[in-house]
Amino acid sequence: MNYKLLGRSGLKVSELCLGTMGFGTEAGWGADKETSFAIMDAFADSGGNFLDTANVYKLGTSEKIIGEYLQNHDRDYFVLATKYSLKDNQTNPNASGNNRKNMMRSVEESLKRLKTDFIDILYLHIWDDLTPIDEVLRGMDDLIRQGKVNYAAISDTPAWMVAKGNTLAELMGWSQFVALQVEYSLIQRTSERELIPMARHFGMTVTPWAPLGGGVLSGKYLRGEKGRIKPESRRLDDHSVRITQTVVEIAGELGVAPSHVALQWTTHQGFSCIPIVGATKVDQLKENLKAIDVKLSPEHLQKLDEVSKIDLGFPGEFFREEGVKMNSFGGFYDRVEKR
Ligand SMILES: NC(=O)c1ccc[n+]([C@@H]2O[C@H](COP(=O)([O-])OP(=O)(O)OC[C@H]3O[C@@H](n4cnc5c(N)ncnc54)[C@H](OP(=O)(O)O)[C@@H]3O)[C@@H](O)[C@H]2O)c1
Repeated sequence: MNYKLLGRSGLKVSELCLGTMGFGTEAGWGADKETSFAIMDAFADSGGNFLDTANVYKLGTSEKIIGEYLQNHDRDYFVLATKYSLKDNQTNPNASGNNRKNMMRSVEESLKRLKTDFIDILYLHIWDDLTPIDEVLRGMDDLIRQGKVNYAAISDTPAWMVAKGNTLAELMGWSQFVALQVEYSLIQRTSERELIPMARHFGMTVTPWAPLGGGVLSGKYLRGEKGRIKPESRRLDDHSVRITQTVVEIAGELGVAPSHVALQWTTHQGFSCIPIVGATKVDQLKENLKAIDVKLSPEHLQKLDEVSKIDLGFPGEFFREEGVKMNSFGGFYDRVEKR
C-alpha cells in the first residue's frame, strides 16, 4: 500500500479508501458485524488506513460497528471520515440539512457511535440548497478548533458552491475543504464537466464513490451473478454493459480481475484521486486490494476512454473542439503552455 497526501494537507491516507456503507444488514443487504470486522482486518493488514462512513449508513450501524472495532484496535492508526446532513431522527426538523445546529448535533451523535473523541475528516454529505455555505465552513472550522474534527470535506454539491466556500474560507482564514466526494467511475463520468476541474484548481483530492459502479464493473452481472444492483438500474443499461465488456476484455489481456482495471482507471485521470471501494465480503475486498499492483498501458487507457467518454456540454465541449484552433497559429490566443 502506498500513501498519498489528502488535498492541500499533510495528512497521509492509503491509496484506497474502504467504504463502509454496507456494514450492517439493514435494508436486506450488507455485511454482519463479524464480516465487517474481518473486512477491516484485511484492509488494515494490507496497510489501509482510510475508512469512510456516514451518520446514516445502515441507520447508524456502520458507525457503531467501526466504533466497536476501534475499541480493540489502534484508533490513531486510522483516518476516520464520516458525514453529516441526512436525516437520522424523524421528529426533529433540524436533524437534517447542512445547518450548523444539525452539524453540531450530528457530530456529537457520530462521536458516541464511533466511540472516539475526534473525527479525522467531516464531510458535508449532500447539498441541501438552503444553508449559506459560510455557515457550513464556519461550523466546520469551529469543530476543528474544538479538536472534534481534524479536516473539512464535502460531497455531492455543485462545483460553484464548493468553489465559493473554499474561496471564502481562504479569505477568512478558515479550514478549507480538502476532499471532494462524487460518484465517479467508467460508467459515471459527468463530474468531469465542472466538479473535477474545480477540485484540481483548489488542490482537493477527489474521493470517488461507487468506483465499481456499485459492483457492475466487477463484471459479475455479465456472468449472471447476483448483487444489490437491480436489473432495471441505469448502471446496467446498454452503455454501461458495453463499458463493462471492455473492462472485462482488458482484464483478460492483463490476467487480472475487472475490478482492478476499473479502480486503477480512476487514478490515471490526471488529478489526485483516492477511490472509495465498498465490499460486503472479505474475498471482495482482498480481490480489490490487488488493484494497487496493476498497471494500465496508454493503449488500454485510450480504449477505456473511448468507450466511456461523455459529452462535456457547454463550455467544456466548446473548449475541447475549439481549444486547438484557439491555440493554433492565427487563432484567438497566443500559444502558451498550460500550468
Ligand atoms: N457521498 C455519497 O453520496 C456516497 C454514496 C454512495 C457511497 N458512498 C461511499 O462510497 C463507498 C463505495 O460505494 P459503493 O459501495 O456504492 O460502490 P462500489 O465500490 O462501486 O461497489 C461496491 C459493491 O460492489 C460489489 N463488489 C465489490 N467488489 C467486488 C468484487 N471484487 N467482485 C464482485 N463484486 C464486488 C459489492 O456488491 P454486493 O454487495 O452487491 O456484492 C460491493 O458492495 C460506500 O461504501 C460509501 O462509503 C458515498
